[in-house]
Amino acid sequence: MKKVLANDGISSAGKDRLEQAGFTVSTDKVAQEDLGSVINAEGYSALLVRSATQVRKDLIDACPDLDFIGRGGVGMDNIDVEYARNLGRRVENTPGASSRSVGELVMAHMFASARFLNQSYCDMPELGAKDFKRLKKAYAKGKELGGRTLGVVGFGRIGQETAKLGVGAGMKVIAFDPISEQDTLHLDIIGLDEPVQVPIERVSMDDLLSRSDFISLHVPAQEDGSAVIAQEQFGKMKDGVVLVNAARGGVVDESALIEALDSGKVGSACLDVFVGEPEPRTDVLTHEKVASSPHIGAATMEAQERIGLELAEKIINHFGD
Ligand code: 3PG
Repeated sequence: MKKVLANDGISSAGKDRLEQAGFTVSTDKVAQEDLGSVINAEGYSALLVRSATQVRKDLIDACPDLDFIGRGGVGMDNIDVEYARNLGRRVENTPGASSRSVGELVMAHMFASARFLNQSYCDMPELGAKDFKRLKKAYAKGKELGGRTLGVVGFGRIGQETAKLGVGAGMKVIAFDPISEQDTLHLDIIGLDEPVQVPIERVSMDDLLSRSDFISLHVPAQEDGSAVIAQEQFGKMKDGVVLVNAARGGVVDESALIEALDSGKVGSACLDVFVGEPEPRTDVLTHEKVASSPHIGAATMEAQERIGLELAEKIINHFGD
């Protein structure tokens, strides 16, 4: 009977599916430094992780019988993927299972920041009863998303899902992607038999930066660790732009971001991901123009259920081969 360690958890649907297929599944969290010895001592054949657990060369080398490494999610920057594959290990992720959830979080951040909801939610319980009129005035200059331009950087699965939601909110969506040539969205509308085809204007990065009122990033961590948005890119943006990053911390240069927020170049930044997780910079977290969430883009019941089931099928197929 094969044993699976889901070190960052797995949905009960995914666990059930594996157990029905005869696998033993543990969701007991093992500390990073103990992983090698526990995997070997317990005889785990598969290790499932999200972004918290690191699967680096030393762990891969230390566990010769670890045959399957699964990433419940998209980004594999916490796994030495090529190294493991070159040793004949199977490495899988779930690239499409969380796109909708990430797109919805991006929209939630954009709607919230356009109406100062992140600040208002904090102020109202304490000050709402005695300072209602002052707060009403303080949060009076909201913006509608409808009619504004949303620039999507990275037009893969998540970028496209975000674009669909932007289109649904009445935004003009423009997109940049150095690889994909996709220029049409297929919008599923409940009640319509066929998806609605929506053309999307593909633009250069510079065009996107200069035209967008909202910019949302959907690019992976860069291999050399460099930022996609740094001082030069901030300089090309519209004054007061809203920047959303639910991709990876390092794709935005956080020092350059703070400067751009202080100068007013960026009106607000909505951040779900940070350099140095799980201990982000406090000057980023506490900046008055930053609205933040703790890396929860894929953290919905629906996405995690899809992820768990997809990984379960991949494990079952792999060990059934
Ligand atoms: C991903 O790459 O899929 C997301 O960043 C989600 O990461 P998480 O599984 O740690 O929430």
